[in-house]
Amino acid sequence: MSNVVILGAQWGDEGKGKMVDLFSERFDIVVRYQGGHNAGHTVFIGDRRYVLTLVPSGILRGKQVVIGNGLVIDPAELIRQIETLEAAGVDVVGKLAVSNRAHVIFPFHRSVEKVSEAREGRTAIGTTSRGIGPCYEDKIGRRGIRMAELVDEEVFPPLFRALAEDKATLARAFGIQDTFDYEAIFQEYLAYGRRLRPMVCDTARLLHRALAEGKQILFEGAQGSMLDIDHGTYPFVTSSNATAGGVATGAGFPPTKIDGVVGVSKAYVTRVGAGAFPSEAHGEAGDRIRDAGGEYGTVTGRPRRCGWFDVPLVRYTAMINGFDSLALTKLDVLDGLDEILVCVGYRLDGEEIEEMPATHAALARVEPIYERLPGWKTSTREVRCFEDLPPNARAYLRFLEERTGVEIGVVSVGAERNQTAVAAGSRLEQLLGSVP
Ligand code: GDP
Ligand code: IMO
Ligand code: MG
Repeated sequence: MSNVVILGAQWGDEGKGKMVDLFSERFDIVVRYQGGHNAGHTVFIGDRRYVLTLVPSGILRGKQVVIGNGLVIDPAELIRQIETLEAAGVDVVGKLAVSNRAHVIFPFHRSVEKVSEAREGRTAIGTTSRGIGPCYEDKIGRRGIRMAELVDEEVFPPLFRALAEDKATLARAFGIQDTFDYEAIFQEYLAYGRRLRPMVCDTARLLHRALAEGKQILFEGAQGSMLDIDHGTYPFVTSSNATAGGVATGAGFPPTKIDGVVGVSKAYVTRVGAGAFPSEAHGEAGDRIRDAGGEYGTVTGRPRRCGWFDVPLVRYTAMINGFDSLALTKLDVLDGLDEILVCVGYRLDGEEIEEMPATHAALARVEPIYERLPGWKTSTREVRCFEDLPPNARAYLRFLEERTGVEIGVVSVGAERNQTAVAAGSRLEQLLGSVP
């Protein structure tokens, strides 16, 4: 029996959606444990493209799916996604359970974020503008409203009034014109509550029952470890724990029952939004990766910043998460390159350093130390087992394994389910099985 976590090893968009979809076949339940609809997980099935923002990717294989307590939920977005999936013939209503302890995003959370991002003299984080941060602020500030309260028509009205009063006071204090029609929002959310009520339950209890029945549970991370509120490149991070520790708190799942953690990493690196990026490839090299990889944000459409595989970064996120294995995606994007750079170390103020600096100021000063590896200059898109990879591609994988200290258990060479190769005998194969 195994319960496994699949999460991002870099700054998000590593291809978690594809990996979760691929491996969810042998699990019974797929669970999201943090974040919200700032996530955009793409899954291709044949010609059909699905983008999942809140509903776990396992839904496309007919699995039971759970939105855990660690998420912040925009009910309008959740309902929109349920309707889109149902219209495409995917059964969601019968399969989705939403935690009664997950927090609710309101329209004023998005406005607070807008104001905060536009403040004079402050560098914007470059958020997804979904109200994620301000909703988590209310959670930690102990004034948030949770799904259990949203769906309870006795409890919701006074809580909503208190929160609305709080926001109106704040707006006055900052001299911001408050144009919200709080009564209209209240009525809108009452309707959302009625609509979602049948799916809302104690999902920690649901998972514990599943454990007792010997079911296998897969946890789907959102964002990436370097966007984690504690371990990422603060303050240019998201507001939740995207790392493996987030599973225990964000799903109410005992850490003693987690059998393995798989990190998803691109064969290079991308980042959306602001913040230091030591191995960023500027100019033509970056443009080439962006074009070959179609690197534009799934949620916001923003061009992603592109760069070379960063060994110190993945070594760090492997340490925090305890990766058993790496899933290396988008190897095919490097197919046409003559040579490939790998950032193997950092130099800070003239000295080589071993750790990820804690301050953003230091990370922004870091100079990458590169090694150059020869490219393979042939398409890998048809490769389905490691033995068939071109020798230089295998050498590239071995190099990354040696430097990061983590095995590469699976490589992805295209967006489709079958464009995948699992390393025979790997720890990943033990945890997730071979490609279905
Ligand atoms: P996620 O947020 O981690 O699920 O990743 P996104 O869906 O935001 O971004 C990954 C993008 O890369 C999506 O458009 C995927 O369809 C695509 N993709 C995933 N794996 C591969 C791969 O191996 N090769 C190529 N070319 N594209 C891939
Ligand atoms: P998936 O799950 C990539 C980034 C934003 C911004 C920062 C904070 O698809 O990998 P937020 O809206 O969360 O307050 O923004 O985090 N970000 C992501 N980048 N992939 C994501 O999700 C992201 N979710 C948030 O661009 O820099
Ligand atoms: Mg994404």
